[in-house]
Amino acid sequence: MTLLTPRLAVDGQPWRRVVLGDGTTLDVRPLQRTDGPALAAAVASLSADSRYRRFLTPKPRLTDRELARLTDVDHHAREALVAVEPSTGEWVGVVRYAVFPHEPRVADVAVTVADSWQRRGVGTALLRVLVEHARREGIARLHATTFADNRAALRLLAARGFAVREARRDSVELALELAPAAA
Ligand SMILES: CC(C)(COP(=O)(O)OP(=O)(O)OC[C@H]1O[C@@H](n2cnc3c(N)ncnc32)[C@H](O)[C@@H]1OP(=O)(O)O)[C@@H](O)C(=O)NCCC(=O)NCCS
Repeated sequence: MTLLTPRLAVDGQPWRRVVLGDGTTLDVRPLQRTDGPALAAAVASLSADSRYRRFLTPKPRLTDRELARLTDVDHHAREALVAVEPSTGEWVGVVRYAVFPHEPRVADVAVTVADSWQRRGVGTALLRVLVEHARREGIARLHATTFADNRAALRLLAARGFAVREARRDSVELALELAPAAA
């Protein structure tokens, strides 16, 4: 069971405390523009396989341009949330969405969990918080793209209600329609 409770606020956005099924507590906070070095380090510490599955291409390291794009969050049209181990500050996972340039109510989603933390419910907890945030922001549909053999991502997305829109030989496009948040 995952418990989510609002905590502090950064840029008007709440921190949340997440309790994993094994009792481990994590903080989930909005990414900030100053997080570039920490984000670069977190991506560099992933296995080559996790980076490949996240970026859908071999990605030994992020370029300065990619890092600038990934830290360009406004917490509305572009949001990223970081799960942090509270006592060590270790980055455990990142989930994000960014609206499409010509479709402001439709956003693309990506999620990554540090290799040593995978299969503990972190991805599920992060995606759950992000989906609720997107709903509050008035986003109507979330899209995700994953490799067709990425069973972890497919199970994670299916469990949150994403449905397959297009299955190609190597990749799968999924989408989740979001009902408006209750007033
Ligand atoms: C995909 C990813 C984010 C999942 O994160 P996670 O924290 O391990 O996921 P969870 O522990 O919350 O598990 C979610 C579901 O996936 C399943 N799962 C997790 N890892 C799995 C694996 N290696 N093989 C099969 N199923 C797996 C879990 O059993 C769970 O399914 P269930 O709800 O039916 O029990 C993580 O594997 C990752 O970061 N991979 C590399 C980057 C990537 O692929 N990103 C996706 C791009 S959209």
